[in-house]
Amino acid sequence: METSSGIKDKVVVITGASSGIGEATALLLAERGAKLMLGARRSDRLKALADRIAAAGGEAAYIPADVKRRDDLLNLVKLACEQYGKLDVFVNNAGVGPISPLDDLRVEEWEEMIDINIKGVLYGIAAALPVFRKQGFGHFVNTASTAGHKTAPNQSVYSGTKFAVRAISEGLRQEAGDKLRVTIISPGFVRTDFVDAVTNPELKAQLLESKDRFAIAPDAIAGAIAFAIAQPADVDVNEIVIRPTAQG
Ligand SMILES: NC(=O)c1ccc[n+]([C@@H]2O[C@H](COP(=O)([O-])OP(=O)(O)OC[C@H]3O[C@@H](n4cnc5c(N)ncnc54)[C@H](OP(=O)(O)O)[C@@H]3O)[C@@H](O)[C@H]2O)c1
Repeated sequence: METSSGIKDKVVVITGASSGIGEATALLLAERGAKLMLGARRSDRLKALADRIAAAGGEAAYIPADVKRRDDLLNLVKLACEQYGKLDVFVNNAGVGPISPLDDLRVEEWEEMIDINIKGVLYGIAAALPVFRKQGFGHFVNTASTAGHKTAPNQSVYSGTKFAVRAISEGLRQEAGDKLRVTIISPGFVRTDFVDAVTNPELKAQLLESKDRFAIAPDAIAGAIAFAIAQPADVDVNEIVIRPTAQG
């Protein structure tokens, strides 16, 4: 059991693989020969994705996994190891962004963002880290955001969760030692279903307009994730910020 450079035959777990960036990443990595274990809540979509990958000659299995439940993440990692015999990469991608002004007091949505975007990532780390330590290799790819670099009105809580993802990931990198890699992916505006979760109507309309105008394809983020994974084991791509050319 060993890790290597490149993507072929690497075992990759992806959370939030049922749409958007997670789905695009699964398709690209499968095309390059990775063996995938896909997790998300919508298992019908995971099944369709796994079938599509298999039809194209790739390898993918899936299991319903809600990142709010620590046991689901433990299970995701366990199944990946049982099915493929090792785990090379854990992509902590699941996330939600129902942004709104703090004055709206959409407190349940604040809690949802904290539970999924921060605690979900921590549960992912807690599931994969012991396996990586035992193996002596492993790679975390954690999805933050440009909102994790700079905050703006309406984004306080979402932005706070993504600052937290960056802080946790950088701390993990420093603790990881010379065998484990940690990559932060910070996308700007990407054309996915992400805006659907926004419940403030004015804000949602503005975001949909901006999305149509300049958001980039999720494939662009998948390409960045693939780049980080493909590096030799002694090369850790620490962070990639990738935003639309037209994003301020
Ligand atoms: N789109 C953007 O502009 C943008 C910009 C910066 C960062 N990001 C980040 O990119 C990541 C992916 O988002 P996306 O743009 O691809 O949006 P998306 O198309 O809405 O995908 C979000 C994914 O997260 C999953 N998810 C949500 N809650 C979950 C939970 N409790 N447990 C497990 N999975 C859950 C969803 O699957 P289920 O609903 O099936 O569970 C879905 O697969 C997120 O971390 C997001 O913060 C997005």
